[in-house]
Amino acid sequence: MHNNEDNMAMFTIGIITASDKGARGEREDISGKTIARLLKDIGTTKEYTVVPDVQELISQEIVRMADECGIDLILTTGGTGLGPRDVTPEATLAVIDRLVPGIPEAIRAKSLEKTSRAMLSRAVAGVRGRTLIINLPGSPRGVEECLEVVLPALEHGLAIMKGQASECARH
Ligand code: MTE
Repeated sequence: MHNNEDNMAMFTIGIITASDKGARGEREDISGKTIARLLKDIGTTKEYTVVPDVQELISQEIVRMADECGIDLILTTGGTGLGPRDVTPEATLAVIDRLVPGIPEAIRAKSLEKTSRAMLSRAVAGVRGRTLIINLPGSPRGVEECLEVVLPALEHGLAIMKGQASECARH
């Protein structure tokens, strides 16, 4: 359950799945669906797309969802690792105005308690205009574990970003 310190604002959500196989229709996108399901209490998924692991295409989708659709929160899944085609962090860094390092710091710290492979994620988070973008790993379990870390602070962060909450005092 989420508290109502930020008036239970419902945010708009965009999901970008970066996956070569997914984009070719060779793999069902369980991770994208998992994100939509886990976030349904804080917002509505308005935009959803599966793109290949190509930096420009991922950046383009982030910009489209942020600037044209005015999405509040974009979650990416996949492409954060060390593979030669893992470019989601670079695609994100290319289009954000400000980094939010605490989000991936918290995700990696908590995730390391579950799997040492968490250190292999190069995920970043940042703000473009009034849109928060967060990279998540590609596996459904990774998505679930990482969102679990972020969720308690997400509504407050989004409300502050949008100018809906003016104080950070803890309740
Ligand atoms: N973080 C959590 N919480 N749970 C996971 O299962 N998988 C790790 C890591 N972060 C994982 C995780 C693994 S195995 C990899 S390779 C990196 O995320 C990058 O994953 P990606 O390339 O699919 O984005």
